[in-house]
Amino acid sequence: MVTLLENPLRVGLQQERTPEPLIIVIFGASGDLTQRKLVPAIYHLKRDRRLPPEITIVGVARRNWSHDYFREQMREGIEQFSDGIGSEEVWQDFAQGLFYCPGDMDNPESYQKLKQFLSELDGQRGTRGNRVFYLAVSPNFFPEAIRQLGTAQMLEDPIKTRLVIEKPFGRDLSSARSLNRVVRQTCKEEQVYRIDHYLGKETVQNLLVFRFANAIFEPLWNRQFVDHVQITVAETVGVEDRAGYYETSGALRDMVQNHLMQLFCLTAMEPPNSLDADSVRGEKVKVIQATHLADVRNLEYSAIRAQYAGGWMKGQPAAGYRQEPGVNPNSTTPTYVAMKFLIDNWRWQGVPFYLRTGKRLPKKVSEIAIQFREVPYLLFQSAAQQVNANVLIMRIQPNEGIALRFEVKMPGLEVRSRTVEMDFRYGAAFGQTSGDAYDRLLLDCMIGDQTLFTRADEVEEAWRVVTPALTVWEAPTDPAKIPQYEAGTWEPAEAEHLINRDGRRWRRL
Ligand code: BG6
Repeated sequence: MVTLLENPLRVGLQQERTPEPLIIVIFGASGDLTQRKLVPAIYHLKRDRRLPPEITIVGVARRNWSHDYFREQMREGIEQFSDGIGSEEVWQDFAQGLFYCPGDMDNPESYQKLKQFLSELDGQRGTRGNRVFYLAVSPNFFPEAIRQLGTAQMLEDPIKTRLVIEKPFGRDLSSARSLNRVVRQTCKEEQVYRIDHYLGKETVQNLLVFRFANAIFEPLWNRQFVDHVQITVAETVGVEDRAGYYETSGALRDMVQNHLMQLFCLTAMEPPNSLDADSVRGEKVKVIQATHLADVRNLEYSAIRAQYAGGWMKGQPAAGYRQEPGVNPNSTTPTYVAMKFLIDNWRWQGVPFYLRTGKRLPKKVSEIAIQFREVPYLLFQSAAQQVNANVLIMRIQPNEGIALRFEVKMPGLEVRSRTVEMDFRYGAAFGQTSGDAYDRLLLDCMIGDQTLFTRADEVEEAWRVVTPALTVWEAPTDPAKIPQYEAGTWEPAEAEHLINRDGRRWRRL
């Protein structure tokens, strides 16, 4: 149990602010992301009075929808995937600011038409030429859309116009570099918001507050006290209906290069000079620059991939990955990846960071576990006694919170110890957990705060770290050689070896 004290620390990446009136142009407006996440997030912000009344959304996609049809679709999205519209009055007010403009990503005329429409809306809605262009389309369209926006001179003003790019940003180092080149030719880095929704999670941002607003942990946060770190993002879902995307992506591109890498950076980085975007991002880049796979010559010592085979999830039979609709029956795409990173710097030299993520694992759980060293000398030598090293666990989701494990004396006449846990739970302490990551990220983008968005050099460095594995795994492989794990079970034996070889074990979650 944790009791909240008076004067809660007001550490925000930015304190509360309201964005300027603006138009959010969503490319890919007929897609899932828009309906499930983006528009519901903007609606929450509106309902919570975080937005000025002029805020306007323009959906762009190929389909020939009317404004009213778009509004209906968005309402359905809010009702189905979020907590409903609440007040009809708020919805009506919001809906008046929703528009649809059909267009083709590769047709210059569509951009001219859009440009004209946006300037009419400026007059009608008072949005003063301020724009956020959100690319919620398939990544294949990113370069074309950015070029076209450039040619149509829609990103000319670095103060008034912003560009949001969804993940994945590139599919490897060279494609990320070339996408960054297109971005650079079209606009300034200050206009670019590369989204990784993990950075919008409350518990992920809390990593910074926990580390740098407490004096007692940071002195221990280094090679002298930490034995190793485990970062886990386990999912119960399979590939669902996303085979088309996932087959060309896989766990390394879908999760490790972005989400896990962000968790890693925030855990391992040095304290930034301030909470402004470039100080934080600069420190993240520095730590990735010092990071590499533990052994690139013997890849199996530092990177493992696997695929889920048929099994059982919550008492129901679950298909194997290769049997999922749309998946190649000989697919070699990994649904599970485990990696061992080392960092060449004074703080972390010799401390392994083990990362793992997979679909169809027994539990949905994301956490960072800091495993401290064992005591240097054990006073309590009784044979029956096992003393466990301390562990600090940052629970990202679910049951958001922080736990510290330590040894205590068990009551009784003998001196026997037992591991206990001190547990802080967001839900219990604050009566609520957190809003959706997109609420936070969209608001930051509208305000113009880039702290929680990935910078060009950061995304390239993250690709660099995983490139040795990507290169080997991309080469044609006999499908029979891809390790399998049964749906509903933890990692394959190969991933166990990765960590057991070092005399350590994956945490049982
Ligand atoms: C997405 C991935 O970025 O993150 C999905 O494309 C994954 O495959 C999802 O399921 C996980 O996000 P969360 O917020 O549910 O942990």
